[in-house]
Amino acid sequence: MAENFDLIVIGAGPGGYVAAIRAAELGMRTACIERDPRPGGVCLNIGCIPSKALLESTEHYSVAMNRLGEHAIKVEGVSIDLDGLMARKERIVAGLTGNVRKLMEGGGVRLIHGSARLISASEIEVLAPDGTSARYGAKWILLATGSEPVQLPFLPFDGRRVVSSTEALAFKSAPKRLGIIGGGYIGLELGSVWARLGSNVTVIEVLPRIAFALDGQVSRLLERLLRAEDLNFRTNTKVIRAEDAGDAVRLFLDPGEGREEQAEFDSVLVAVGRRPLSKGMGLEELNILLDSQGFVRVDEDYRTNIAGVYAIGDLVPGPMLAHKASAEGIAAVERIAGLASEVDYGAIPAVIYTSPEVASVGKTEEELKTLGVDFKSAVFPFRGSARAQCLGETDGFVKILAGPGPGRILGVHIVGPRASELIAECVTAIKLHMNAQELSRVVHAHPTLSEAVHESAAMLLRRP
Ligand code: NAI
Repeated sequence: MAENFDLIVIGAGPGGYVAAIRAAELGMRTACIERDPRPGGVCLNIGCIPSKALLESTEHYSVAMNRLGEHAIKVEGVSIDLDGLMARKERIVAGLTGNVRKLMEGGGVRLIHGSARLISASEIEVLAPDGTSARYGAKWILLATGSEPVQLPFLPFDGRRVVSSTEALAFKSAPKRLGIIGGGYIGLELGSVWARLGSNVTVIEVLPRIAFALDGQVSRLLERLLRAEDLNFRTNTKVIRAEDAGDAVRLFLDPGEGREEQAEFDSVLVAVGRRPLSKGMGLEELNILLDSQGFVRVDEDYRTNIAGVYAIGDLVPGPMLAHKASAEGIAAVERIAGLASEVDYGAIPAVIYTSPEVASVGKTEEELKTLGVDFKSAVFPFRGSARAQCLGETDGFVKILAGPGPGRILGVHIVGPRASELIAECVTAIKLHMNAQELSRVVHAHPTLSEAVHESAAMLLRRP
């Protein structure tokens, strides 16, 4: 007899584990099936967390090498131990995944190790690593299997010279020449890590700007600042084919106008996006509808077309972000439990952890123009911030886009120190439908970086 649960969640990433814990809190008998030995998914094991650990460590290194002079601190003989850096990253990941396991098990979620496959809308088969299989029944099934890196057809991953972010988080030594295909989140973050560790990094981006989804003013400044951090960019350039060049990979580039160029790299990181992991778990056999890109189709309750089966996170359309997946996981199980719950898709922050950081929420200037929305904008540069001056980090700005009159906040775009933290206030402002007048009346501590948000809001009101 199959063991029965109210809810079975497939996948223990930030979407799945958060959903499972919330479901258990709500009194559902809950299991979560995970094929990897450690819970936490891509984010904790091979994504957000290890990359942030490396970004922090290498930024300290870069500051020690290049920026302490500004504070009249003289340092000599600075060096970095790559093995030690990787060991620190691993300790952080191990600690956090251990915490997730404790949270799940302590919260009453049964964590089952193995690969899940849907047999029906209420039954799942799990193949354990030792080759045994078991069946489990559930009233509801929540799919939260996430996504995987996209490969280029002419440049398959070989785990050695042509790699995805997984291997690029664990190079044994800094590649002398690192080519990165794709100037998005992964390309810019991992490009920063390895440039700081001595690689000659070239980011090749097919679109005219890096991080194209960002507000144009932000992405142009980011490119300029990252060039100063020794990253090279080839925008408007397509990689059309590749060949093995002995100890290197030779890429053939099309920079437009019918020209063809070649470039050789010791390693190539392919970071051209991710695709949903919706294959091989029985969805097609159950006739669960997928779109042309493999995303699971869901309604506003995260229900698939098959009653009792739900999907969230990278598996469904929308930004592939851990916090979006977690928010959807909570909303999905609360809706299953009959509670009113929703995700405000207009108020989801996005952060790129470069130096300086970039963070945004809401609409970009380009989007507002395309939508024909009447808006005004204000840009407050960090060089006008006393705190930024004391920190010695004055690059960047806070840009607020707002509607007419009192200025309903429509979008906030920040490049600068600790942008990742500053954006939280702006997300709240958008979520609560605040206007620039209200935001400018919130008292901000002085001197703090957050005053730049306040100043930008105040500027909007001074403008005609
Ligand atoms: P991405 O979608 O951010 O960027 C991919 C880039 O590759 C785009 O700029 C695209 O124009 C370019 N591209 C696509 N095909 C190309 C080609 N053939 N030649 C040259 N350029 C090409 O995807 P990325 O960086 O792989 O990240 C995957 C996902 O992971 C993102 O959607 C993001 O949501 C998530 N992520 C989030 C992070 C964060 O929140 N800080 C950090 C890392 C990843």
